[in-house]
Formats: sequence, structure tokens, C-alpha cells
Amino acid sequence: MHLKVGRNDPCPCGSGKKYKKCCLGSEKASHVTPAEEFYRQYKVRLKTPEQIEGIRRCGKLVMQTFDIVKELIRPGVQTEGIDRVVHEFTVKNNAICAPLNYHGFPKSVCVSPNEVICHGIPGEYTLKDGDIVNVDITSILDGYYADCNQTFFVGTPSKDACKIVDVTRESLRIGLEQAKPGNIINDISTAIQKYAEGQGCSVVREYMGHGVGLDFHEAPNVPHYRSNWGNVPLVPGMTFTVEPMINLGGKEVRVLEDGWTAVTRDGSLSAQFEQTIVITEDGFESLTPFEL
Ligand code: MF3
Ligand code: CO
Ligand code: CO
Repeated sequence: MHLKVGRNDPCPCGSGKKYKKCCLGSEKASHVTPAEEFYRQYKVRLKTPEQIEGIRRCGKLVMQTFDIVKELIRPGVQTEGIDRVVHEFTVKNNAICAPLNYHGFPKSVCVSPNEVICHGIPGEYTLKDGDIVNVDITSILDGYYADCNQTFFVGTPSKDACKIVDVTRESLRIGLEQAKPGNIINDISTAIQKYAEGQGCSVVREYMGHGVGLDFHEAPNVPHYRSNWGNVPLVPGMTFTVEPMINLGGKEVRVLEDGWTAVTRDGSLSAQFEQTIVITEDGFESLTPFEL
């Protein structure tokens, strides 16, 4: 990786002086590694091959958890039943459920049916034929985090259910096509927004993808719409999620009294898909792979 530091940029050595007034042309700058330089500029921690392998192993466990969850989803199942299965399987595999007690979140997994956009708290709600339901699993294995979510049909899907789930899955696929060195976060964001809005759907603004791996939520933010936050270059070793939340109706969000459950203001259906990826020399690798 090579990062160009402008003459008037802050010096990568951290002195606070301009580069030209400090290390430009001197030997001092060579003590700063490209990863340290990237951290100073963007607060993004680039991962070593060992760290990436740790996140990959955690991602494998997350995908094994999904294999079990998938089989469980059918009409008549309570959302807290999904929580129990995720919790037991994760603990049995010497891992931790990242959501549990995260900023006070009371359960081990987020389960978000129908008009719930994200952060649904598993409870007494019973899945019924025609529902859609998003399950968002984040595990911690040997200190490494992997974060993944998918939206499932319960029984036979309605036309609206098919539409929102198909558009959302495709928006993630199209966004990830932009995940490669030479591009910036905004290339991913813009591709998702163009596609989803082109299909007559809307993009949720309040929640974003995020750096992940050594922590649950790290820099950078990964918005799913074009924004000023998206001016971050994609470089090998970056690990982050892309997790578009797409609504069939308007983009507006309301958070319920429980302080977590985010629903569409207009009550329309909302879907989401999420993967944890690492930027490679020529593109990306999904560390929580499933077919898009
Ligand atoms: N997994 C969610 C994400 O994709 C975050 C859930 S935070 C929780 O970022 F506290 F609700 F679990
Ligand atoms: Co996430
Ligand atoms: Co998640």
C-alpha cells in the first residue's frame, strides 16, 4: 500500500506540524509504517494476516450458527427460541455472543421481523406464515469479532416480502462489487443507494456498516447512501461490514420504548443483509460468506 501525504497535510509522525515543516525529505518519516499512517489519518486499524485469520475463523463459526438457525425458522417459533439456540451453540464453541449486554442489549442476537429494521429484541413474538425475519449474529472467538445478518422467509412469502428481500440482497451484492483498492467507501455506498432507490425502495440512514474485527464497532463508518463520511480509501487489510437496511416504503425510522427496536415509521417491510469483509490486493474476501 502507498499513501500520498500532501506537503500541507499533518505530518504522519504525529508532531501536529505540517509535513513540509517536519519530516518531508528527512529520515524521520520512515519510522512510521503505512498502517500507522493510515490509522493517524482515518482512525482505521488495518489488520495483520494473523488477525484476519482470527476474524475468518470467527466468521466460520458465525456461518455454522446460521446453518442451525435456518433450520429452525418456521411458523410457530418464538423469536426467543432463536436466541436460545444461538446462545447455546456459541458458548458450546468457546465463543461469546457480542450483543449480550452490549450497551445494555438484553439478548444474545438481534431478531427483527417484518417492519423491524434492526436491533429487534428476541421475545414472545411468534413467527407466522408470510413473515420475513432478519437474524443478526455477532460472535467473539479468541478475541476476534465477525458480524453477519440475513433475512429469511417464514413459510410462503408474499409478493412484497419477495420484493424487499430480493432488492436488499442484490443491493449488498452490487455494493460489494465496488469493494476493492483504488475505490473509496462512497463507491460502495453510492452503488447500494442507486440500485435500491432505482427499485423504488428507500435506504435507512440512521444505522451504518462499520469497521469490525478487534472490536464490535470500529472506524470507519460505512453508510449505505452517498455521504461525507464515505471519503475513506479502501486499502488491503481493512475489515468492515456492509449491511444495507432497505425499506419498501419511506426511509424514516422510529425507535420503540425499549430503546432498541428500530421500526419503519410507515410500518412498511424492511430487510437487511450483512457480511464482514476484508479488502485484499485485488478486491475483497468475505469472512462471513453466503451466496448473494
Ligand atoms: N450486529 C449489529 C450490527 O450489525 C449491532 C447490534 S448491537 C446490539 O452492527 F446491541 F443490538 F446487539
Ligand atoms: Co454490523
Ligand atoms: Co450485525
